[in-house]
Amino acid sequence: MKKIEEYVRSIPDFPEEGIIFRDITSVLQDADGLHLAIDSMQALLDGVDFDVVVGAESRGFVFGTPIAYNLHKPFVLVRKKGKLPCETVSRSYALEYGTAEIEMHKDSIKPGQRVVLVDDLIATGGTIEAAAKLVEELGGKVVKIIFLMELAGLKGRERLKDYDVASVIRYD
Ligand code: PRP
Ligand code: ADE
Repeated sequence: MKKIEEYVRSIPDFPEEGIIFRDITSVLQDADGLHLAIDSMQALLDGVDFDVVVGAESRGFVFGTPIAYNLHKPFVLVRKKGKLPCETVSRSYALEYGTAEIEMHKDSIKPGQRVVLVDDLIATGGTIEAAAKLVEELGGKVVKIIFLMELAGLKGRERLKDYDVASVIRYD
């Protein structure tokens, strides 16, 4: 049986020179890789008491939805600006490459709900920090943040020091 990290394909200099892109398509297009990824991430939630899973567009949807489904929890979308049709809250943030703005529907989190945030990868932590702030703006409490992969060299965890963070694969 292959280990989860063996399913990840690393592409140098994509989308810019100097970036090593950690590609999840090679994980997802293998049935064993897909199972192992979801099961390994879900295991990070053992013993965690929560009400809702929130995933960041787009790769956070891929991992967040099956985890929510398996654990019979609702799934909430954090989307890139301009995609959600109802009233939203929004935040801008910087990426490892470029900038972006994300939004959530105002009615997607009820005050006091315990939230698990899911994404495929943490680089600088900018995306998930912005998502956490949106959840808090809506009155939710972020009780856990999980990733398949963590680029430890970019020190995203320091940015998330106020949260309980866990990842399956760590790249130094
Ligand atoms: C990638 C990745 C994370 C984020 C990590 O998403 O899926 O969401 O960047 O970077 P950060 O920790 O520096 O914020 P991207 O914005 O490229 O969108 P995608 O999932 O739609 O490809
Ligand atoms: N998102 C931000 N940085 C990334 C990287 N190095 N690989 C894959 N996705 C990313």
